[in-house]
Amino acid sequence: MPNMWDGYLKEVLIDADRLQARVKELGEKISVDYKGLDFLLICILKGGVPFLTDLMRQITVPHEVDFLAVSSYGRGARSSGGVVRILKDLDESIEGRHIIIVEDIIDSGYTLGYITRLLGTRHPASIKICALLDKKERREVVIPVDYIGFVIPDEYVFGYGLDLDQKFRNLPFIGIAKK
Ligand code: IMP
Ligand code: MG
Repeated sequence: MPNMWDGYLKEVLIDADRLQARVKELGEKISVDYKGLDFLLICILKGGVPFLTDLMRQITVPHEVDFLAVSSYGRGARSSGGVVRILKDLDESIEGRHIIIVEDIIDSGYTLGYITRLLGTRHPASIKICALLDKKERREVVIPVDYIGFVIPDEYVFGYGLDLDQKFRNLPFIGIAKK
């Protein structure tokens, strides 16, 4: 039986076992750091969904989740000088509360830079970023990332939330796309 990703996948970068093991570690760390605090995980749609759902099940202290959908113009927000459009805003007020932004990947950093500034104007008690993947060498905007799953090379990756032309977000692993 051929796989649906045959023809698109160059190689598997992070397999499902490694992903799950790292997500568990991040969940354990967050559970310690946020014990006793009122906090929300804010998932950036759509790429952050598989990561969020696995991460929240590894967190052992009470918390809430909320969702934010943004559109970058072109790939990343660089072309618009870091401005992204909000497609779906949060349901909850974050004033006075601790928030952790859960995102699939940081590339240039423009998208998360914008989101962090925007949410900062709503006066949360604190903001931290939890990104599954970090393409460190492509960073153009300095943003502190508090929880990182994996630093990866400058390759286009897909699976586990990340899309290839909007598809393959359901793969349980991260793969490098064929050129
Ligand atoms: P940034 O604003 O350049 O940091 O872009 C971040 C966004 O670009 C991420 O949230 C992803 O949606 C997208 N992105 C960047 N690199 C990749 C990739 O390798 N695969 C899939 N999406 C990516
Ligand atoms: Mg994204």
